[in-house]
Amino acid sequence: GLVNTREMFKKAINGGYAIPAFNFNNMEQMQAIIQAAVETKSPVILQVSKGARQYANATLLRYMAQGAVEYAKELGCANPQIVLHLDHGDTFETCKSCIDSGFSSVMIDGSHLPYDENVALTKKVVEYAHQFDVTVEGELGVLAGVEDDVVAEHHTYTRPEEVVDFVTKTGCDSLAISIGTSHGAYKFKPEQCHVDPATGRLVPPPLAFDVLDGVMKELPGFPIVLHGSSSVPQEEVDTINKYGGKLEAAIGIPEDELRKAAKSAVCKINIDSDSRLAMTAAVRKVFAEKPAEFDPRKYLGPARDNMKKLYEHKIVNVLGSDNKL
Ligand code: G3H
Ligand code: 13P
Ligand code: ZN
Repeated sequence: GLVNTREMFKKAINGGYAIPAFNFNNMEQMQAIIQAAVETKSPVILQVSKGARQYANATLLRYMAQGAVEYAKELGCANPQIVLHLDHGDTFETCKSCIDSGFSSVMIDGSHLPYDENVALTKKVVEYAHQFDVTVEGELGVLAGVEDDVVAEHHTYTRPEEVVDFVTKTGCDSLAISIGTSHGAYKFKPEQCHVDPATGRLVPPPLAFDVLDGVMKELPGFPIVLHGSSSVPQEEVDTINKYGGKLEAAIGIPEDELRKAAKSAVCKINIDSDSRLAMTAAVRKVFAEKPAEFDPRKYLGPARDNMKKLYEHKIVNVLGSDNKL
């Protein structure tokens, strides 16, 4: 069946790699994630946001994820390591409903709350979740942009001096931190970036690795999570724009920075936007090149293949979680 994150994170930290946490909202995304994980022999976290639950229905997504374990076996994986995780749980009730329905892991995102309220809410979720061996991700620090329906103008980096107190008081199993990433395809303004003379591409300012180092010094070996870790592949953006899309100045996290993070105690890296770009690029290409096509399998199939390629690239070339089953 589904597993929680405990052993998975321990192995990832000791092995210097990170587990991919891919969001899914539909069958094609889930299939592509599982195909990629099976072919690369990688553990994987399937994550469901509140928006995904509203879009696709929580029960259907849960059965899909539970079915994913059998699907992985059918694809030839003898011992799949698949987590079903709630992404950005906003209330105790949302977390409880996921725990009660078979999720193996949940995030309670109290990062926008005053510190003591974040502690109290996270502790309450942990106390409930641990009765069912469900692991809990908490968050300290606020990402710029939209997170959990809360819009923040600026990053509020995680304060290393708070993390020991937070983890001790709440008992959470992993901690999401804010070091300069953000959600979506527009993570930096072009004016914050400089042009790489070799490629002509915009290079964003570096993430705050000093903050990560500070957190790791306070909490040696404790599982750290990075949200907002899409790289916004230029090829996908170009394809989208070539076939009628309009994504201007979309900028993500350079893969080198994610590689560096994956080697540290960062053991879960969240990627959603890149999958959306891969899906959109493939669908737009079919629509542009074969305007008479109207069988959804003829465009969602190529979309699935393109997402699978992207997931495999992340696993093998960025996070290093391949051949770990
Ligand atoms: O946290 C952000 C994830 O990319 C999920 O996004 O809330 O639009 O499903 P969503
Ligand atoms: P991206 O928007 O960078 O893919 O981040 C996804 C995420 O953090 C989901 O929780
Ligand atoms: Zn997130």
